[in-house]
Amino acid sequence: MRSILFIASCLAASSTAAPAFKNLYNFSNDMSEFLGRVSQAIHGDINALTCDPSSITLPSFASGLPAPTGQKPLYVALGRGTQNYTCTSSTSSSTPVAAGAVARLYNATCLAAALPAAIELLPALAYKLTLPSNEYDPLPPSNFNLIGHHFFEGKVPVFNLDTTPSRQLGIAKVKKEADLAAPSSAVRGSDDEAAVAWLYLSRTNGTIGKYSSVYRVDTAGGSPPETCEGMESSFTVEYAANYYIYGV
Ligand SMILES: *[C@@H]1O[C@H](CO)[C@@H](O)[C@H](O)[C@H]1NC(C)=O
Ligand SMILES: *[C@@H]1O[C@H](CO)[C@@H](O)[C@H](O)[C@H]1NC(C)=O
Ligand SMILES: *[C@@H]1O[C@H](CO)[C@@H](O)[C@H](O)[C@H]1NC(C)=O
Ligand SMILES: *[C@@H]1O[C@H](CO)[C@@H](O)[C@H](O)[C@H]1NC(C)=O
Repeated sequence: MRSILFIASCLAASSTAAPAFKNLYNFSNDMSEFLGRVSQAIHGDINALTCDPSSITLPSFASGLPAPTGQKPLYVALGRGTQNYTCTSSTSSSTPVAAGAVARLYNATCLAAALPAAIELLPALAYKLTLPSNEYDPLPPSNFNLIGHHFFEGKVPVFNLDTTPSRQLGIAKVKKEADLAAPSSAVRGSDDEAAVAWLYLSRTNGTIGKYSSVYRVDTAGGSPPETCEGMESSFTVEYAANYYIYGV
């Protein structure tokens, strides 16, 4: 986060800096757009930024999901990993079936609080990144720290925020309450599959901590091909998303 802010604060001095910067560092269009939004939002003054989670709001498109009425935003995590699927045959007569997901969760709380216009672009960037080989390393290029792991226990989605013995933030176990097809602008998969849906997930049995719900939003990739033709009996599809974690 700080390195992103540093870069962006250099950009912020001049509205024409972004294209020049892009050429200099050969950033992708996505990265240029991201840094441009960061620089616009901060106007050069890093110290004016807040990391206060209470100022976090969901992206406006999430109004198509139930609202987090009476709940408090606690963390925003960038998720980067795979959606898993199974196929009963490798022919076009069977359809991939969802079989959980595995993702690392990175702490993007501060970015969500300070720069909502930038956070929504983060999964599109992260989708193209390879995760660091050491799972406890921060995610480059902006050094977001690992805040937890997302996986499934049977059919139950789990967000385990206990990363090290000294950082025990609890475990949210959830169930799906509602879904919403990703907007048409979302990053599509390598075979042009739509991005996975946005979700509203609510707390269920086994949760440790004050967690009440999790929203999956700003999705990139993650959907399987339409049929199982040519697919293995189990396979994974890369994805990224922002997870907004609420509590009471
Ligand atoms: C910039 O990126 C493109 C695409 O990745 C690559 O083909 C090109 O060689 C790069 N240019 C420089 C100057 O690094
Ligand atoms: C999903 O796939 C990953 C990578 O192959 C694997 O580590 C993980 O256990 C799988 N999870 C589920 C729920 O199948
Ligand atoms: C998340 O990052 C922010 C900003 O760097 C920091 O203030 C906060 O303590 C971090 N939260 C966790 C749970 O790591
Ligand atoms: C949660 O636990 C309660 C009490 O043990 C049980 O009645 C309920 O069926 C459980 N709910 C789920 C979704 O497992």
